[in-house]
Parts: sequence; structure tokens; C-alpha cells
Amino acid sequence: MDGDSVAIRPIDFVRDEQPLKAFLGERDKMRLSHAEAALRDGDCFIFVAAERGVPVGWAIVHLRYREDQDWDPDENGRRYQSGDNAYLENIEVTPRLRSRGLGQQLIRAVEDEARRRGKRHLWLHTSENNVKAHQLFERQGWQHETSMYPSWKPDTRMRIYKKTL
Ligand SMILES: CC(C)(COP(=O)(O)OP(=O)(O)OC[C@H]1O[C@@H](n2cnc3c(N)ncnc32)[C@H](O)[C@@H]1OP(=O)(O)O)[C@@H](O)C(=O)NCCC(=O)NCCS
Repeated sequence: MDGDSVAIRPIDFVRDEQPLKAFLGERDKMRLSHAEAALRDGDCFIFVAAERGVPVGWAIVHLRYREDQDWDPDENGRRYQSGDNAYLENIEVTPRLRSRGLGQQLIRAVEDEARRRGKRHLWLHTSENNVKAHQLFERQGWQHETSMYPSWKPDTRMRIYKKTL
């Protein structure tokens, strides 16, 4: 892969949905399907990393909480999607292209876009054992706020990270 062959750009839902679903897990495929209406209404945005036009990574950010999401966040989870807060629900790069800087580029793109949309704080949950993700976010200036067992995933200890934009 050379640097010019991968571009970070907003999703084109019609063109990108199937190629994204080719590498996403079942739960994330569902997240993508459920995001279509939110995207249309301007309540979320999605960036893709595209290799010669074909998505090989994505990041999805919710700007406003909606009842039609596929998960039911607790009170804090809703707070992370209101006012000047936005929520990075998922970021993933296809395994073949990890460790080449695409995750970092996606994070920078979503931070810029959230700022452009008037947000001041970005939040995310990630598993306590996802060390690769912790290192990546911390290098990008995200802070580990706390760890907890969320109501929507009570068996998994999760970290909450915050980035002030
Ligand atoms: C977390 C995830 C998105 C990171 O994506 P990525 O594209 O591998 O991220 P980056 O390449 O920017 O950074 C990862 C590593 O590559 C290294 N790297 C970055 N650019 C590089 C380059 N040009 N050449 C070599 N290494 C590079 C970074 O130093 C970093 O190393 P480190 O983790 O040891 O500190 C990816 O691992 C993934 O999809 N994981 C599964 C889903 C997930 O866990 N998502 C996060 C929870 S919401």
C-alpha cells in the first residue's frame, strides 16, 4: 500500500455499505444499517478509509441521541450524544491494513469534523483489554476518564475515553 492509494473521506452510503459489511462483524454491520436514517437526518457522520475507492476502515460519530440506535446507552451514554458532546461509536480498520496509520488518520478526520459541527467533547467506550486502542487514543490526546461495567454490556469492563476538541 502506498500513501496515495488510501483516502479518508465521508461515507457514500449507497456505494460503501456492502464493502464495509465485508469486513465488519455482525454487531457492527447492524450499527451501520441503523446509521442510515441518522446520517440522512444529520444526527451522525461516518468517515471511511478507502483504498482505491473501496472502504477498508470506518469511524462513526453520533451527534444526537436517537431512539432508533441498536443499543440502549445508559444516562451517561446519552449525555455523550447531546449538547456539545459527540460519541465515537466505532472505529475499525480491516486487519490486512492495520498498523499503517489509518486508525490515526480516521481519528483526526472525525475530530476535525466534530469540531466543525460545533462539538467540544468527544467520548468513546473501549474494552479494558483493548491495549492497542488505548495506545492509539492516548497518543492522539484522549484521556482515560474512568472504567466501568456499562448497563448495555454488564459482563465487560470498559474504559471511557474523552477528547476535548
Ligand atoms: C484500533 C484500530 C482501529 C487501529 O487502527 P490502525 O489503522 O491499526 O491504527 P494506526 O496504524 O494508526 O496505529 C496503530 C499502530 O500502528 C503504528 N503505525 C502508525 N503508522 C504507521 C506506519 N506508517 N508504519 C508502521 N506503523 C505505523 C502506530 O505507531 C501504532 O502502533 P502502536 O499501537 O503499537 O502504538 C484497529 O486496530 C482495529 O480496527 N481494531 C479492531 C477494532 C477496535 O478495537 N476498535 C477500537 C475500539 S472502538
